[in-house]
Amino acid sequence: MTTLEIRDLHVDVAQTDTDAEPIHILKGVNLTVSSGETHAIMGPNGSGKSTLSYAIAGHPKYVVTQGSITLDGENVLEMSVDERARAGLFLAMQYPVEVPGVSMSNFLRTAATAVRGEAPKLRHWVKETKEAMTALEIDPSFGERSVNEGFSGGEKKRHEILQLDLLKPKIAILDETDSGLDVDALRVVSEGVNRYKEREHGGILLITHYTRILRYIKPDFVHVFVGGRVVESAGPELADELEENGYVRFTSAPAAG
Ligand SMILES: Nc1ncnc2c1ncn2[C@@H]1O[C@H](COP(=O)(O)OP(=O)(O)O)[C@@H](O)[C@H]1O
Ligand SMILES: [Mg+2]
Repeated sequence: MTTLEIRDLHVDVAQTDTDAEPIHILKGVNLTVSSGETHAIMGPNGSGKSTLSYAIAGHPKYVVTQGSITLDGENVLEMSVDERARAGLFLAMQYPVEVPGVSMSNFLRTAATAVRGEAPKLRHWVKETKEAMTALEIDPSFGERSVNEGFSGGEKKRHEILQLDLLKPKIAILDETDSGLDVDALRVVSEGVNRYKEREHGGILLITHYTRILRYIKPDFVHVFVGGRVVESAGPELADELEENGYVRFTSAPAAG
C-alpha cells in the first residue's frame, strides 16, 4: 500500500524572461492518493493542473515555495527526478516531448532499467514489450522510430500508456491523456490504464477537463481544481454535475453584499 500525500502545496513558475517575477500558480493544494484509488482532477484551462503534475514529477521550472509532497512519508521534494521515478512515481505528460535520434525501444529499455534497478532480461523484455504494444494497438515498427518524433497526438498518448504498462509505477499521474484522442484511441488508452490499475493495484491521478474519459475509467473520487487548488471533492457523481453545468459554480465570484 502506497500513499502520495500533498499538503498545502504552493508553486511558482519561473518565467523564461529571467528578469520577470515568478508567477504564483498553485495556492495550497491538498490531496491524498493511495494504491488502488482513482482520483479525477477536473478543472478549467489554466487552473494549474499541469503545474501540479510537473511539481510532483520534479520539473525544475516549477518551484515549491510552501507545503509538502510525501510518498509513504518520504520527502519527495528532496528527490531528484530520477529518484522520484525509482520511488514509483510516473507522469504521462499532457504534451509528451520528442527525442530525435533515440529509438522508442532504446528509450523504453533504458527507462525500465533505471526504474527497476537492473536491465530486464532480453528474451523476457521482448515478449513483455510485444504484448504491451499489441494490447495498445501500436505497430511493432514504432520500436525503431525516434521517441514521439512525428507521432500523431493519439500515437503519443498510446506511448505514454505503453510506458505506464512497462514501468509499473506505484502512483501514476495522467495529464490529459484523453486530449486529442478519437473514440477508438480513447478506448484503447483507457483499457491500458484499467489494465495497469488491475495488475499493479496502482494509484491514479487522472487530470482532465472533459468528463468523456470517465465513461471508460471510473474514478473513486472527483476533485474540482480552480485557481490553483482543489475547491471541492466528492464521489463520481460530481463529474456528472460538471458535465451538466460546467465549472461556473466554482469560478464565478460570490455576489457582493
Ligand atoms: N512555464 C510557464 N511559464 C509561464 N507561465 C506558465 C508556465 N507554466 C504554466 N504557466 C501558467 O500557469 C497557469 C496554469 O497553467 P497550467 O498548469 O498549464 O494549467 P492547466 O493545465 O490547468 O491548463 C497558466 O496561466 C499558465 O499560463
Ligand atoms: Mg494542462
